[in-house]
Amino acid sequence: MRLPGWTAAAGLLSLPSALAALAAPDFTNLDSIKDTAAEVAKDLLSFYKGEDPGWVFAIGILPGPPPDGDYFWWIGGAMWGALLDYRHQTGDTQYDRIITRSLVEQSGENKDFMPANWTATMGNDDQGFWAMTAMLAAETNFPPPPAEAGLDWLALVQAVFNEQTMLERRVNIPGNNCNGGLRWQAFSINNGFDYVNTISNGIYFNLGARLARYTGNDTYAEYAEKTYELLERLKYIDEEGNVHDGAHLPKDCLDVNKLQFSYNAAVMIQGAAYMYDVTNQSQKWKDRLDLLVDRSLAVFFPNGVAYEYACEGVGSCNVDMRSFKGYLHRWVSQATVLAPHLRDRVMTVFEGSARAAVAACDRGDNGQMCGFEWTRNGGAQSPKQTSAVHQMNVLGALTGLMMKEAKVPVTNATGGMSKGDADGGAACRTCVRWRKSPWAIGLGRGF
Ligand SMILES: *[C@@H]1O[C@H](CO)[C@@H](O)[C@H](O)[C@H]1NC(C)=O
Ligand SMILES: *[C@@H]1O[C@H](CO)[C@@H](O)[C@H](O)[C@H]1NC(C)=O
Ligand SMILES: *[C@@H]1O[C@H](CO)[C@@H](O)[C@H](O)[C@H]1NC(C)=O
Ligand SMILES: *[C@@H]1O[C@H](CO)[C@@H](O)[C@H](O)[C@H]1NC(C)=O
Repeated sequence: MRLPGWTAAAGLLSLPSALAALAAPDFTNLDSIKDTAAEVAKDLLSFYKGEDPGWVFAIGILPGPPPDGDYFWWIGGAMWGALLDYRHQTGDTQYDRIITRSLVEQSGENKDFMPANWTATMGNDDQGFWAMTAMLAAETNFPPPPAEAGLDWLALVQAVFNEQTMLERRVNIPGNNCNGGLRWQAFSINNGFDYVNTISNGIYFNLGARLARYTGNDTYAEYAEKTYELLERLKYIDEEGNVHDGAHLPKDCLDVNKLQFSYNAAVMIQGAAYMYDVTNQSQKWKDRLDLLVDRSLAVFFPNGVAYEYACEGVGSCNVDMRSFKGYLHRWVSQATVLAPHLRDRVMTVFEGSARAAVAACDRGDNGQMCGFEWTRNGGAQSPKQTSAVHQMNVLGALTGLMMKEAKVPVTNATGGMSKGDADGGAACRTCVRWRKSPWAIGLGRGF
């Protein structure tokens, strides 16, 4: 749907300026990295209008969706996740009120991150991105919303997970190779209902692994494990650890789109690290995790700097794709907190990548807005575009470095305060079918 009132403010080319670029931090000093991250966060918030007079319709979201602004609804959810990671690593609580207000506003009428206004473009991945941010809120003991909101972070995640477990969201065609897979789109009227993509299933996997760890309920881990096996069987994750984008139901999911986007790999890596932890450092999950990490370091850091190779080399990255480097840095960094044997290998690469990221912050009216391309001497040859997603990326790169010294996320048993609702989810209340979902007990081939 189109929302009225957006101005064409984002993404403008800026004039050449003599202002100094963003100063590089001392990368050996966490306080120095924090100071730089604070600048990047402040500049990120300059793209957000939801607190401005007359913009109440934009609480929680960035200007959009296209063509009314650059950003789809889910990018808002992703942005609050980047800020929650930043908050947790730095202790900078100045954005707490805005973050809380945004998550409550977009939680929707049924407390499941599916506000009626956005159902026209609602994919399982869109809903899932907001749920990942709520999961992060629970895992970092972000203060709960005010009581009158009647919701809490963990319950929101469970609602989304329950709804995505339902057959209605999945391929339910016995004999079809994709059977059991979560569809890209949540509703049959939307284009993409016949695409079974990695990010939707990957977020479901990621949430299942994290819910298992947080609540101690093994059912979530079983769903996560089945999802991983499904993606392996469909060859979306191949033997070399490449993570492909998805395939179509009418083609029996055999037409695997071999483009590799970094968020697909990163969402699997983070989830695999949780499963590694949930299974008490099992060899099986260690092998899966190590394979994915090794391959991703090779594919997405060809010269030691994050590179979205599926689109960056040919200049075809859209705004969504231009946001992936931030998730790559954050989620893989966070995986090393639960799998410390990966820490030195990952952090060595990520520090070099973060250095290049900061060097690309040399544009905009203040001279320190960030670019998307981190190679080629700070993006000197790229158009001097600015974007909220560029800020999110660099914020993610800096925040990720701070995770070198991070404690493991809390769980319900180790001080986590967030309240759950194992039966959450609007559709579940009326149909409760997800509970009996045969998907979980052997509907699909290979299950
Ligand atoms: C839906 O969008 C309309 C128009 O922008 C807005 O007035 C209304 O508050 C929105 N409703 C919800 C529930 O977000
Ligand atoms: C564990 O999670 C499953 C799936 O959400 C749910 O059906 C079950 O009731 C939960 N068990 C407990 C003890 O909360
Ligand atoms: C992991 O270890 C804990 C504590 O020893 C135990 O209770 C739990 O069952 C183990 N889980 C698995 C999956 O092995
Ligand atoms: C979480 O922990 C609290 C306090 O130990 C306990 O009362 C509650 O039942 C737990 N919730 C779940 C879902 O395990």
